[in-house]
Amino acid sequence: MLLDAPAPVRAPSVDPAFRADVLAGLAARPRAVPALWFYDRAGSELFEKITDLPEYYPTRTETALLAAHCGEVATIVGPGRAVVEFGSGSSTKTPHLLAAIEPAAYVPIDISGEFLQASAAALAADFPKLPIVPVEADFTLPLSPPVGIARMPKLGFFPGSTIGNMVARTAVNLLRAMVETLGEGSMLLIGMDRVKSPDMLVPAYDDAQGVTAAFNLNLLHRINRELDGTVPIDAFRHRAIWNDDYARIEMHLEAVRDAAFTVAGQPFAISAGETIHTENSHKYGPRDARLLLRAGAWTPIREWTDAEGKFALILAEARPAGTAP
Ligand code: AVJ
Repeated sequence: MLLDAPAPVRAPSVDPAFRADVLAGLAARPRAVPALWFYDRAGSELFEKITDLPEYYPTRTETALLAAHCGEVATIVGPGRAVVEFGSGSSTKTPHLLAAIEPAAYVPIDISGEFLQASAAALAADFPKLPIVPVEADFTLPLSPPVGIARMPKLGFFPGSTIGNMVARTAVNLLRAMVETLGEGSMLLIGMDRVKSPDMLVPAYDDAQGVTAAFNLNLLHRINRELDGTVPIDAFRHRAIWNDDYARIEMHLEAVRDAAFTVAGQPFAISAGETIHTENSHKYGPRDARLLLRAGAWTPIREWTDAEGKFALILAEARPAGTAP
Protein backbone atom coordinates (compact mmCIF):
# COMPACT_ATOMS: atom_id res chain seq x y z
CA MET A 1 0.00 0.00 0.00
CA LEU A 2 1.76 3.10 -1.29
CA LEU A 3 1.07 6.18 0.81
CA ASP A 4 1.97 9.78 0.06
CA ALA A 5 4.60 11.37 2.22
CA PRO A 6 2.76 13.93 4.43
CA ALA A 7 4.51 16.96 2.95
CA PRO A 8 5.82 16.07 -0.50
CA VAL A 9 8.55 18.53 -1.43
CA ARG A 10 8.82 19.01 -5.20
CA ALA A 11 12.33 19.43 -6.49
CA PRO A 12 12.67 22.60 -8.56
CA SER A 13 14.10 22.07 -12.05
CA VAL A 14 17.38 23.65 -10.98
CA ASP A 15 18.36 22.42 -7.55
CA PRO A 16 19.97 25.41 -5.79
CA ALA A 17 21.96 23.05 -3.55
CA PHE A 18 23.43 21.30 -6.61
CA ARG A 19 24.35 24.67 -8.12
CA ALA A 20 25.95 25.86 -4.88
CA ASP A 21 27.93 22.63 -4.36
CA VAL A 22 29.24 22.60 -7.94
CA LEU A 23 30.22 26.27 -8.00
CA ALA A 24 31.95 26.05 -4.62
CA GLY A 25 33.52 22.67 -5.45
CA LEU A 26 35.04 23.85 -8.73
CA ALA A 27 36.41 26.99 -7.09
CA ALA A 28 37.98 25.06 -4.17
CA ARG A 29 41.46 23.46 -4.15
CA PRO A 30 41.49 20.54 -4.35
CA ARG A 31 38.38 20.63 -6.54
CA ALA A 32 35.65 18.37 -5.19
CA VAL A 33 31.95 17.80 -5.80
CA PRO A 34 29.95 15.74 -3.24
CA ALA A 35 29.10 12.23 -4.44
CA LEU A 36 25.37 12.60 -3.81
CA TRP A 37 25.09 14.59 -7.05
CA PHE A 38 25.84 11.46 -9.09
CA TYR A 39 22.31 10.30 -8.55
CA ASP A 40 20.09 11.97 -11.09
CA ARG A 41 17.92 9.57 -13.11
CA ALA A 42 20.76 8.64 -15.49
CA GLY A 43 23.25 8.32 -12.64
CA SER A 44 20.91 6.11 -10.61
CA GLU A 45 20.46 3.86 -13.64
CA LEU A 46 24.21 3.69 -14.21
CA PHE A 47 24.71 2.79 -10.57
CA GLU A 48 22.23 -0.09 -10.99
CA LYS A 49 24.39 -1.31 -13.89
CA ILE A 50 27.49 -1.08 -11.70
CA THR A 51 25.88 -3.40 -9.16
CA ASP A 52 25.72 -6.13 -11.84
CA LEU A 53 29.35 -5.80 -12.99
CA PRO A 54 31.61 -8.83 -12.48
CA GLU A 55 34.21 -6.60 -10.76
CA TYR A 56 31.74 -4.91 -8.39
CA TYR A 57 31.50 -7.48 -5.60
CA PRO A 58 29.78 -5.40 -2.85
CA THR A 59 26.17 -5.65 -3.99
CA ARG A 60 26.08 -9.38 -4.64
CA THR A 61 28.07 -10.13 -1.51
CA GLU A 62 25.76 -8.06 0.67
CA THR A 63 22.60 -9.42 -0.97
CA ALA A 64 23.80 -12.98 -0.30
CA LEU A 65 24.52 -12.06 3.34
CA LEU A 66 21.02 -10.64 3.72
CA ALA A 67 19.39 -13.64 2.08
CA ALA A 68 21.34 -16.02 4.30
CA HIS A 69 20.90 -14.22 7.61
CA CYS A 70 17.66 -12.25 7.56
CA GLY A 71 15.99 -15.01 9.58
CA GLU A 72 18.46 -14.38 12.35
CA VAL A 73 17.96 -10.62 11.98
CA ALA A 74 14.21 -11.22 12.36
CA THR A 75 14.72 -13.18 15.57
CA ILE A 76 16.77 -10.37 17.11
CA VAL A 77 14.72 -7.34 15.97
CA GLY A 78 11.26 -8.95 16.36
CA PRO A 79 8.09 -8.03 14.42
CA GLY A 80 6.25 -4.69 14.18
CA ARG A 81 9.09 -2.32 13.40
CA ALA A 82 9.01 0.49 10.86
CA VAL A 83 11.92 -0.09 8.50
CA VAL A 84 13.54 3.24 7.54
CA GLU A 85 15.94 2.89 4.63
CA PHE A 86 18.52 5.64 4.09
CA GLY A 87 19.33 6.17 0.39
CA SER A 88 17.00 3.44 -0.83
CA GLY A 89 17.75 3.75 -4.57
CA SER A 90 16.11 0.83 -6.34
CA SER A 91 15.38 -0.96 -3.02
CA THR A 92 16.61 -4.24 -4.53
CA LYS A 93 17.93 -5.64 -1.24
CA THR A 94 14.90 -4.64 0.78
CA PRO A 95 12.47 -7.46 -0.13
CA HIS A 96 14.69 -10.02 1.67
CA LEU A 97 14.50 -8.01 4.84
CA LEU A 98 10.82 -7.06 4.61
CA ALA A 99 9.79 -10.65 3.88
CA ALA A 100 11.66 -11.91 6.94
CA ILE A 101 10.81 -9.47 9.74
CA GLU A 102 7.04 -8.75 9.63
CA PRO A 103 7.52 -4.97 9.52
CA ALA A 104 4.77 -2.46 10.46
CA ALA A 105 5.76 0.01 7.71
CA TYR A 106 8.49 0.80 5.21
CA VAL A 107 9.92 4.30 4.81
CA PRO A 108 12.40 4.57 1.90
CA ILE A 109 14.34 7.85 1.82
CA ASP A 110 16.11 8.88 -1.38
CA ILE A 111 17.29 12.04 -3.10
CA SER A 112 16.26 10.81 -6.56
CA GLY A 113 12.49 11.39 -6.46
CA GLU A 114 11.52 9.76 -9.73
CA PHE A 115 13.56 6.69 -8.93
CA LEU A 116 12.13 6.55 -5.43
CA GLN A 117 8.50 6.58 -6.64
CA ALA A 118 9.14 3.85 -9.20
CA SER A 119 10.89 1.54 -6.76
CA ALA A 120 8.31 2.18 -4.01
CA ALA A 121 5.52 1.30 -6.45
CA ALA A 122 7.29 -1.92 -7.45
CA LEU A 123 7.71 -2.86 -3.79
CA ALA A 124 4.07 -2.05 -3.03
CA ALA A 125 3.05 -4.64 -5.63
CA ASP A 126 5.04 -7.32 -3.78
CA PHE A 127 3.92 -6.24 -0.28
CA PRO A 128 0.30 -5.15 -0.83
CA LYS A 129 -0.56 -4.90 2.88
CA LEU A 130 2.55 -3.08 4.02
CA PRO A 131 2.21 0.71 4.46
CA ILE A 132 4.99 2.28 2.34
CA VAL A 133 5.77 5.96 2.82
CA PRO A 134 8.48 7.20 0.42
CA VAL A 135 10.30 10.36 1.48
CA GLU A 136 12.18 12.38 -1.15
CA ALA A 137 15.04 13.90 0.80
CA ASP A 138 18.78 14.10 1.34
CA PHE A 139 19.06 11.60 4.20
CA THR A 140 22.19 13.33 5.51
CA LEU A 141 20.03 16.29 6.60
CA PRO A 142 17.92 16.12 9.80
CA LEU A 143 14.53 14.62 9.14
CA SER A 144 11.49 13.81 11.24
CA PRO A 145 9.81 10.51 10.38
CA PRO A 146 6.33 10.71 8.78
CA VAL A 147 3.51 11.15 11.31
CA GLY A 148 2.01 7.65 11.27
CA ILE A 149 5.44 6.14 11.81
CA ALA A 150 6.55 8.25 14.76
CA ARG A 151 5.46 5.92 17.58
CA MET A 152 6.51 2.63 15.98
CA PRO A 153 9.75 0.95 17.06
CA LYS A 154 12.23 1.36 14.26
CA LEU A 155 14.85 -0.51 12.33
CA GLY A 156 17.17 1.68 10.29
CA PHE A 157 18.46 0.01 7.13
CA PHE A 158 21.61 1.45 5.59
CA PRO A 159 22.99 -1.08 3.12
CA GLY A 160 25.43 -0.75 0.23
CA SER A 161 28.31 0.62 2.32
CA THR A 162 26.94 4.09 1.60
CA ILE A 163 28.43 5.10 4.97
CA GLY A 164 31.77 4.64 3.17
CA ASN A 165 31.06 7.71 1.04
CA MET A 166 31.48 9.90 4.12
CA VAL A 167 34.72 10.95 5.77
CA ALA A 168 34.94 9.84 9.40
CA ARG A 169 33.58 12.98 11.03
CA THR A 170 30.62 13.17 8.65
CA ALA A 171 29.92 9.46 9.10
CA VAL A 172 29.85 9.87 12.88
CA ASN A 173 27.58 12.91 12.61
CA LEU A 174 25.22 10.95 10.36
CA LEU A 175 25.14 7.93 12.67
CA ARG A 176 24.33 10.22 15.59
CA ALA A 177 21.63 11.96 13.53
CA MET A 178 20.16 8.52 12.82
CA VAL A 179 19.85 7.93 16.57
CA GLU A 180 17.98 11.25 16.76
CA THR A 181 15.72 10.37 13.83
CA LEU A 182 14.98 6.78 14.85
CA GLY A 183 15.06 7.16 18.64
CA GLU A 184 16.72 5.30 21.48
CA GLY A 185 15.97 1.59 21.47
CA SER A 186 16.02 1.55 17.67
CA MET A 187 18.16 -0.83 15.74
CA LEU A 188 20.28 -0.31 12.66
CA LEU A 189 21.26 -2.87 10.03
CA ILE A 190 24.22 -1.43 8.17
CA GLY A 191 26.43 -2.77 5.39
CA MET A 192 30.12 -1.88 5.42
CA ASP A 193 32.69 -2.79 2.80
CA ARG A 194 35.92 -4.15 4.25
CA VAL A 195 39.56 -3.24 3.69
CA LYS A 196 41.07 -5.61 1.15
CA SER A 197 43.70 -5.76 -1.55
CA PRO A 198 43.75 -2.83 -3.99
CA ASP A 199 43.96 -5.57 -6.66
CA MET A 200 40.32 -6.30 -5.93
CA LEU A 201 39.26 -2.77 -4.94
CA VAL A 202 40.55 -0.77 -7.89
CA PRO A 203 38.87 -2.85 -10.64
CA ALA A 204 35.61 -2.67 -8.67
CA TYR A 205 35.75 1.10 -9.25
CA ASP A 206 37.34 1.01 -12.71
CA ASP A 207 35.61 -1.80 -14.58
CA ALA A 208 36.57 -3.19 -17.97
CA GLN A 209 33.27 -2.17 -19.58
CA GLY A 210 33.66 1.45 -18.52
CA VAL A 211 30.33 1.65 -16.69
CA THR A 212 31.90 3.27 -13.62
CA ALA A 213 33.67 5.73 -15.93
CA ALA A 214 30.31 6.62 -17.47
CA PHE A 215 28.81 6.98 -13.96
CA ASN A 216 31.58 9.38 -12.95
CA LEU A 217 31.47 11.35 -16.22
CA ASN A 218 27.67 11.62 -15.99
CA LEU A 219 28.28 14.24 -13.30
CA LEU A 220 29.74 16.51 -16.00
CA HIS A 221 26.80 15.80 -18.32
CA ARG A 222 24.46 16.67 -15.45
CA ILE A 223 26.33 19.94 -14.83
CA ASN A 224 25.96 20.81 -18.52
CA ARG A 225 22.27 19.82 -18.55
CA GLU A 226 21.09 21.38 -15.33
CA LEU A 227 23.50 24.24 -14.70
CA ASP A 228 23.87 25.52 -18.25
CA GLY A 229 27.47 24.28 -18.33
CA THR A 230 29.93 24.17 -21.20
CA VAL A 231 32.22 21.51 -19.70
CA PRO A 232 34.11 19.74 -22.55
CA ILE A 233 33.50 16.19 -21.38
CA ASP A 234 36.14 14.70 -23.66
CA ALA A 235 38.74 16.72 -21.75
CA PHE A 236 38.19 14.48 -18.70
CA ARG A 237 38.83 10.86 -17.87
CA HIS A 238 37.74 8.62 -15.01
CA ARG A 239 40.32 7.71 -12.36
CA ALA A 240 39.95 5.35 -9.40
CA ILE A 241 42.80 5.27 -6.88
CA TRP A 242 43.39 3.52 -3.54
CA ASN A 243 44.36 5.98 -0.80
CA ASP A 244 46.00 3.71 1.77
CA ASP A 245 46.37 6.40 4.44
CA TYR A 246 42.61 7.03 4.47
CA ALA A 247 41.72 3.41 3.59
CA ARG A 248 39.50 4.57 0.77
CA ILE A 249 38.95 4.37 -2.96
CA GLU A 250 38.84 7.84 -4.46
CA MET A 251 37.17 8.62 -7.75
CA HIS A 252 38.39 11.62 -9.67
CA LEU A 253 37.70 13.25 -13.01
CA GLU A 254 41.13 14.05 -14.38
CA ALA A 255 41.72 16.69 -17.04
CA VAL A 256 43.63 15.13 -19.96
CA ARG A 257 44.32 18.58 -21.42
CA ASP A 258 43.97 22.19 -20.31
CA ALA A 259 40.33 23.23 -20.44
CA ALA A 260 38.22 26.33 -19.82
CA PHE A 261 34.45 26.36 -19.44
CA THR A 262 31.55 28.08 -17.72
CA VAL A 263 28.96 26.77 -15.26
CA ALA A 264 25.90 28.91 -14.54
CA GLY A 265 27.70 31.79 -16.21
CA GLN A 266 30.84 31.50 -14.06
CA PRO A 267 34.23 30.83 -15.68
CA PHE A 268 36.51 27.96 -14.62
CA ALA A 269 39.83 26.62 -15.87
CA ILE A 270 41.65 23.35 -15.21
CA SER A 271 45.13 22.26 -16.28
CA ALA A 272 46.05 18.87 -17.71
CA GLY A 273 46.65 16.39 -14.88
CA GLU A 274 44.51 18.25 -12.31
CA THR A 275 41.39 16.53 -11.01
CA ILE A 276 37.91 17.04 -9.66
CA HIS A 277 37.50 14.68 -6.69
CA THR A 278 34.03 13.17 -7.00
CA GLU A 279 33.78 10.33 -4.49
CA ASN A 280 35.32 8.61 -1.49
CA SER A 281 34.51 5.03 -0.69
CA HIS A 282 36.01 4.24 2.72
CA LYS A 283 36.69 0.63 3.67
CA TYR A 284 36.55 -0.64 7.24
CA GLY A 285 38.33 -3.48 8.99
CA PRO A 286 36.25 -5.39 11.60
CA ARG A 287 37.41 -3.22 14.54
CA ASP A 288 37.30 -0.02 12.47
CA ALA A 289 33.66 -0.73 11.71
CA ARG A 290 32.71 -1.34 15.34
CA LEU A 291 34.61 1.73 16.52
CA LEU A 292 32.88 3.92 13.95
CA LEU A 293 29.48 2.65 15.08
CA ARG A 294 30.26 3.19 18.77
CA ALA A 295 31.56 6.68 18.02
CA GLY A 296 28.22 7.29 16.31
CA ALA A 297 26.28 6.13 19.43
CA TRP A 298 25.35 2.67 18.07
CA THR A 299 26.28 -0.52 19.93
CA PRO A 300 27.12 -3.39 17.56
CA ILE A 301 25.35 -6.55 18.69
CA ARG A 302 25.81 -9.02 15.85
CA GLU A 303 27.66 -9.16 12.56
CA TRP A 304 27.80 -11.38 9.53
CA THR A 305 30.44 -11.63 6.83
CA ASP A 306 31.09 -13.77 3.76
CA ALA A 307 33.68 -16.57 3.77
CA GLU A 308 36.38 -14.30 2.31
CA GLY A 309 35.54 -11.38 4.60
CA LYS A 310 34.85 -9.01 1.71
CA PHE A 311 31.81 -7.30 3.19
CA ALA A 312 30.13 -7.04 6.59
CA LEU A 313 26.52 -6.69 7.62
CA ILE A 314 26.28 -5.34 11.16
CA LEU A 315 23.27 -5.09 13.45
CA ALA A 316 23.55 -2.36 16.08
CA GLU A 317 21.33 -0.92 18.79
CA ALA A 318 20.85 2.65 20.01
CA ARG A 319 21.42 2.18 23.73
CA PRO A 320 21.29 5.02 26.21
CA ALA A 321 24.72 6.39 27.10
CA GLY A 322 26.34 4.67 30.03
CA THR A 323 24.72 1.26 29.67
CA ALA A 324 27.76 -0.17 27.94
CA PRO A 325 31.05 -0.44 29.82
C1 AVJ B 1 26.73 2.75 -3.16
C2 AVJ B 1 27.86 4.70 -2.74
C3 AVJ B 1 28.54 2.76 -1.65
O1 AVJ B 1 31.01 3.58 -3.03
O2 AVJ B 1 30.80 1.53 -3.67
C4 AVJ B 1 30.06 2.40 -6.93
C5 AVJ B 1 28.98 3.94 -5.15
N1 AVJ B 1 30.73 4.43 -6.85
N2 AVJ B 1 30.99 2.58 -7.87
C6 AVJ B 1 30.38 2.67 -3.55
C7 AVJ B 1 29.90 3.58 -6.28
C8 AVJ B 1 31.40 3.80 -7.82
C9 AVJ B 1 28.96 2.93 -4.05
N3 AVJ B 1 28.04 3.29 -2.93
